[in-house]
Amino acid sequence: MSKTVVLAYSGGLDTSVCVKWLADRGYRVIAFMANVGQGDPSAAAIRRAKVAGAAQVIVRDLRKEFVADYIWPALKAEAVYEGEYLLATALSRPLIAKHMVDVAHKAGAKAVAHGCTGKGNDQVRFEVTARILDPTLEIIAPVRVWEFRSRDQEIDYALKYRIPIDVTKRSPYSIDQNLWGTSIESGVLENPWTEPPTDTYRSIRSPERAASTPAYVTIEFSRGVPVRVNGARVPELQLIDRLHRLGAAHGIGRSDVIESRIVGIKSREVYEAPAGAILFEAHQELERLVLDRQLLQFKRGVAITYAELIYSGLWFTPLKTSLDAFINATQQRVSGTIRLKLFKGSCQVVGRKSPHGLYKERLATYSAKDQFDQRAAEGFIKLFGLAYEGSGRVAK
Ligand code: ARG
Repeated sequence: MSKTVVLAYSGGLDTSVCVKWLADRGYRVIAFMANVGQGDPSAAAIRRAKVAGAAQVIVRDLRKEFVADYIWPALKAEAVYEGEYLLATALSRPLIAKHMVDVAHKAGAKAVAHGCTGKGNDQVRFEVTARILDPTLEIIAPVRVWEFRSRDQEIDYALKYRIPIDVTKRSPYSIDQNLWGTSIESGVLENPWTEPPTDTYRSIRSPERAASTPAYVTIEFSRGVPVRVNGARVPELQLIDRLHRLGAAHGIGRSDVIESRIVGIKSREVYEAPAGAILFEAHQELERLVLDRQLLQFKRGVAITYAELIYSGLWFTPLKTSLDAFINATQQRVSGTIRLKLFKGSCQVVGRKSPHGLYKERLATYSAKDQFDQRAAEGFIKLFGLAYEGSGRVAK
């Protein structure tokens, strides 16, 4: 009896060739397709897996789980990697890997496989997650060991075995896409001095070509999670889709950065995350309104660690679970509404309100309504600075 392997299959060239490559080595291949909002797994992709030699194709719609258990926690944490990357690709990996392991268990498979290269982060995320969840599974990474040295060689192999790949759709970039964002790499982008050509960005309009009148949008959060847009309750997938289209039309959510990969190299990355850009801006401002100074500052440190964990594939770890407990405690007050103005690539908060707001106009005002006790400031300052008095004196 041949050994069964569950392959995380995307339908692209690499994983299609992986199916055939594994089947040739005597494996019974189950191609597992996760729908994380990259566009519906097409009939063509399913057929391609079968023609390439998959014994079975399993599709799971993971979109709601992706939002509830991965994207919202990252938003509540304000997790951004190296100040720019909202982690769309990175967040999807532990989810896909978890289901890959589950499919393996249900099928009695002793091995799992993925189509990631040996230079990237995704291999680390898939494999670390699989090992955390079941260290007995064998992990196969065909792309790291196979004989092909270029995309053209893979295409030749696919054509030779009549795997129906769409060579005409061949993009000059390597693209990973899901409902939270798109990651674009390689091709001309490998020269870090080259501006991304107009064909780089998938969905977001260039700020120059964005709508010429600004749009206003209000977002209501309940305990750190967005629940209403412009006053209407919207289910999470529609909410993200709506903000995605709005942000994209106004040129919001692009980034072009050099990034430090887990495996030690710097890479050039182009990202699109229009809904994320709007939601992060709004969420952050709401926190400024409802959380005190020390909590805000401490939480900023937690955000860096949380982003680091996501980026490094350490999602299912005790530290991440413990940080979630802290973050969820902070979010109990993060309810309220933020109003934003979107215009030609800029996304600005223009209004905020919350039943838990710490802003008090009677204390902040410079008008006659002022109730702040200015005389109390004198004693406060005396003691506040006491420990340092004279310490800046320069010796003569
Ligand atoms: N650099 C990003 C990350 O590590 C994007 C990876 C894109 N992956 C891909 N298979 N094209 O998360």
